[in-house]
Amino acid sequence: MKFFLDTANLAEIKEILPMGVVAGVTTNPSLIAKEKQDIKAVIQEIASLTPGPVSAEVISTVFAEMLPEARDLAKLGDNVVIKVPVTVDGLKTVSALAAEGIKTNVTLVFSANQALLAARAGAAFVSPFVGRLDDISQDGIALIKDTADIFAIHDIETEIIAASIRHPLHVTQAALAGAHIATIPAKVLVALLNHPLTDAGIKRFLEDWEQAKK
Ligand code: E4P
Repeated sequence: MKFFLDTANLAEIKEILPMGVVAGVTTNPSLIAKEKQDIKAVIQEIASLTPGPVSAEVISTVFAEMLPEARDLAKLGDNVVIKVPVTVDGLKTVSALAAEGIKTNVTLVFSANQALLAARAGAAFVSPFVGRLDDISQDGIALIKDTADIFAIHDIETEIIAASIRHPLHVTQAALAGAHIATIPAKVLVALLNHPLTDAGIKRFLEDWEQAKK
């Protein structure tokens, strides 16, 4: 499973990228709004920094407006992927963009049927939202597993991005359930490294080293 960063914050991206584990970035309108900057400028800069796909989401909800908006976003970088909600108009947009060679990430996926339809429309990525399902007492990880099983049975190449990841356990569970990618906030990515025995081990090694010098 690969890691994407789920953020529109340039400082976070610049801080984390040198770790060499980030294969892409996902944004959404809420994350972009937090930055209080022009969406095009933000996406362009993220795309120039990131060595992999950068998802930028359309705001329009009707096909006639989604398609030109998506084409404009796609011009912001060769690695820009268009995030489209899983609706009738969204899938029309996915299909039209696929015919033009523009990659899409179908978002707000909450059922395996939505994921299957998105894949058949030509999506490069689908984003099942784990945390938001857990929030309403449904099993977000089960959706990742069902989608991964269905895609494997039917030889579907669309990649599954486990999205709406809230904590480190979600990451392990998404990897075991067959997600190709987990898109995670910077805070959760850094938390994956935390272990009290690692901290205690470093402390003891340094103490022993200092002791030996005496
Ligand atoms: C990424 O594609 C999603 O937009 C994001 O993971 C949603 O996360 P949230 O449910 O924590 O807002």
